[in-house]
Amino acid sequence: MTIATTTSTPLLEVDDLCKSYAPKRGLIGSILARGSKPSNTLKNISFDLGKGEILGVVGESGSGKSTLGFTILGLIEASSGSVRFAGKSLPRDARELRTFRRSAQMIFQDPYQSLNPRFRIKDIVTEPLLVYGLIGNGEVTAAAEEVLDLVGLRPGKSYLERFPHELSGGQRQRVSIARAVVLKPKLLIADEPVSMLDVSIRAGILRLLRSLSASMEMSVVYISHDLSTVRYICDRVAVMYRGEIVEIGSTDQIIAYPVHPYTKRLLSAVPRISFAEKRQRVAQHA
Ligand SMILES: Nc1ncnc2c1ncn2[C@@H]1O[C@H](COP(=O)(O)OP(=O)(O)OP(=O)(O)O)[C@@H](O)[C@H]1O
Ligand SMILES: [Mg+2]
Repeated sequence: MTIATTTSTPLLEVDDLCKSYAPKRGLIGSILARGSKPSNTLKNISFDLGKGEILGVVGESGSGKSTLGFTILGLIEASSGSVRFAGKSLPRDARELRTFRRSAQMIFQDPYQSLNPRFRIKDIVTEPLLVYGLIGNGEVTAAAEEVLDLVGLRPGKSYLERFPHELSGGQRQRVSIARAVVLKPKLLIADEPVSMLDVSIRAGILRLLRSLSASMEMSVVYISHDLSTVRYICDRVAVMYRGEIVEIGSTDQIIAYPVHPYTKRLLSAVPRISFAEKRQRVAQHA
């Protein structure tokens, strides 16, 4: 079992979480799977996440990062183990689940797939407020302007009436972030949010996530296969390998003193800049 603790009161407590998928059903699936064991996609995952903390989850494709994200949000049922959010087990009752969904949001790699192409931007970003009855139809424009401003899409640029296909990839990801944070969640799971974006605009999106996390005291699980972006924004990093957390610690510690051979391999693929230099770069751009 991998154990790690944070100094602040945890928002999220993940304890001994496991997820196995049963072998495939159906005639062909069962023939192909004959003799095989259920896959262990998540193995004994344990960690805490502090309030306002950003935890990077890094690992190669298929290591279980997205499964972990979905399981934390209760969108995939764990085989065993537990997830506690703000001191309570994940709710099962519909009313409590609705409250939990409001506090925990997710954004994805491809904002184009997660935004409804037939909705205007102002409707996309304010839909959660309408669904929860927090604004009326007459307040949509003002609320949309406010949240778009928050994510760096200035109101003067008339984003409100546009459709997703009329925006660039970076602008679309800002819209999906706006939609995710409009209800002021306590937790954001960001699953590879910059991997489909041009390298030149990745830093801007990462700075936005960092500043939203700080100003809203929002905890973030930042999933990536790439340590070069993880070290840009994360307070701590968990390294996943074949369904396990093989190493977890502060970003500085993992980068300066990696212990697991897989972490060392990941680091050797990243162009090296010193940590002080990194902090300086972030400060310059803030
Ligand atoms: N519904 C499912 N049924 C069976 N196996 C699954 C299912 N979903 C995921 N898996 C398996 O679980 C493993 C982890 O998948 P997951 O998508 O969590 O990896 P990942 O680290 O997010 O990968 P990537 O970086 O490519 O997104 C993979 O081997 C995948 O094939
Ligand atoms: Mg994934």
